Amino acid sequence: MFNTRVKIKSLLADYTIGQEVTLMGWVRTFRNNQFIALNDGSTNNNMQVVVELGLLDDATLKRITTGAAIKVTGTVVESLGKGQKIEVKANTLVILGDSDAEKYPLQPKKHSLEFLREIAHLRFRTNTFGAVFRVRHSLAFAIHKFFNDKGFLYMHTPIITASDAEGAGEMFRVTTLDLEKLPKDEKGQIDFKEDFFGRSSNLTVSGQLEGELAATAFGDIYTFGPTFRAENSNTTRHLAEFWMVEPEMAFHDLEDNMNLAEEFIKYIIRYALEHNREDLEFLDARLKEEEKSLPQDKRSEMGLLEKLDFVVNNNFERVTYTEAIDILLQSPAYKKKKFQYDVKWGIDMQSEHERYLVEKHFKKPVIVTNYPKDIKAFYMRMNDDGKTVAAMDILAPGIGEIVGGSQREERLDVLQSRMAEMHVPSEDLWWYLDTRRFGSIPHAGFGLGFERMVLFVTGMTNIRDVIAFPRTPKSAEF
Ligand code: 4AD
Ligand code: MG
Repeated sequence: MFNTRVKIKSLLADYTIGQEVTLMGWVRTFRNNQFIALNDGSTNNNMQVVVELGLLDDATLKRITTGAAIKVTGTVVESLGKGQKIEVKANTLVILGDSDAEKYPLQPKKHSLEFLREIAHLRFRTNTFGAVFRVRHSLAFAIHKFFNDKGFLYMHTPIITASDAEGAGEMFRVTTLDLEKLPKDEKGQIDFKEDFFGRSSNLTVSGQLEGELAATAFGDIYTFGPTFRAENSNTTRHLAEFWMVEPEMAFHDLEDNMNLAEEFIKYIIRYALEHNREDLEFLDARLKEEEKSLPQDKRSEMGLLEKLDFVVNNNFERVTYTEAIDILLQSPAYKKKKFQYDVKWGIDMQSEHERYLVEKHFKKPVIVTNYPKDIKAFYMRMNDDGKTVAAMDILAPGIGEIVGGSQREERLDVLQSRMAEMHVPSEDLWWYLDTRRFGSIPHAGFGLGFERMVLFVTGMTNIRDVIAFPRTPKSAEF
């Protein structure tokens, strides 16, 4: 048996002076031929390993370089140095994997996030990415815990589908056809009958439609999986491959939906605050440091931890789309023509408008409801005014839209006429319509963009830095 190690995080939480332990990890730095800062990924706290004079020959000492992997067995002793309570006095030390210090791209100094994106395969070994990915893990775990504790069923929806759930046409095609010799039908169009599935297929943009099928049997379900969007948006908020959490609840209306979404967001933030305190403190300090170089008016009003505490302890603001547009029209920013895009009832709010509402006007997360039907998806429930649908978006400070959801149209005839109006092919969605034919029920759901949530909780500013290997236009390295 090889793995007899204790993780540094566990050791720091529970140790006895004099106990013998085995640690394995990667060298961050090696000072004075004596002090190793060892990191094993369980925490950003390195363990200081002391190599006493004479323990190792010169050849071995030379191999203790930044990035090298080592196994140390030693005694836990009180540390005389500042910054740590204990250290490990090495009794044996084995090099598991050498790292050529000249070639190793991660030097013990500050690297820019842009540079680290180019070496995303190694960036987990930095303090920033260590913290970000441990927080990401906790948030994912908290999501499952939240829904499991409430009796929701975790549903795995297909990744390859033949439908466009959002009707926005932003799909990646899946095909095995020979692109050099595409089969054509009598009309000269590509003959997808020859393709693998005998029809045109694509990567899913959302698991919602299949989620709805399950909700009409199990009551409460959620999905949590990768989704794909071929939108050519090269922004700090968009990925071509991102993870989405989509709960779908039978016997829920728009208000129930908002209540659940708010409770859910607060729960997962609170979970991270309780389980990732050190990582969040590190990220809080990182953000403060980074913002020092920004002009005063570009800095966040609150520190990261302060912001997270504020969000879990205060109600989200709730306004209708119509009220939101009125606020924008009355705003000094609009009157002074500060917005780049025009404001009037019916527009799909731009990021500058959302940010004004959230960051300047309300200064807290905002749930906007009842959007004009023309800017939302076909499945959203038509309101009695005939102009708006029972939609809700949650906008978060610094991020913009983090959740999109709605009450669903459960009335077969209304749904069919909406589909016709929006050119959504109802023949292809016969199975979806069946849920409205047999035991249709009021139901609702929402989608949380997981990476946007991770951005919000970690205080990172670019979505490429909260997913391990980002897929964005013209970029699919690793
Ligand atoms: O608002 P969206 O498009 O809603 C849906 O897909 C619904 N089917 C959800 C539902 O009701 N079940 O996407 C939901 C969320 C957005 O609010 C945003 O946070 C995130 O997914 N999102 C993206 N995140 C990263 N990159 C992109 N390209 C994203 N597009 C949407
Ligand atoms: Mg949306």
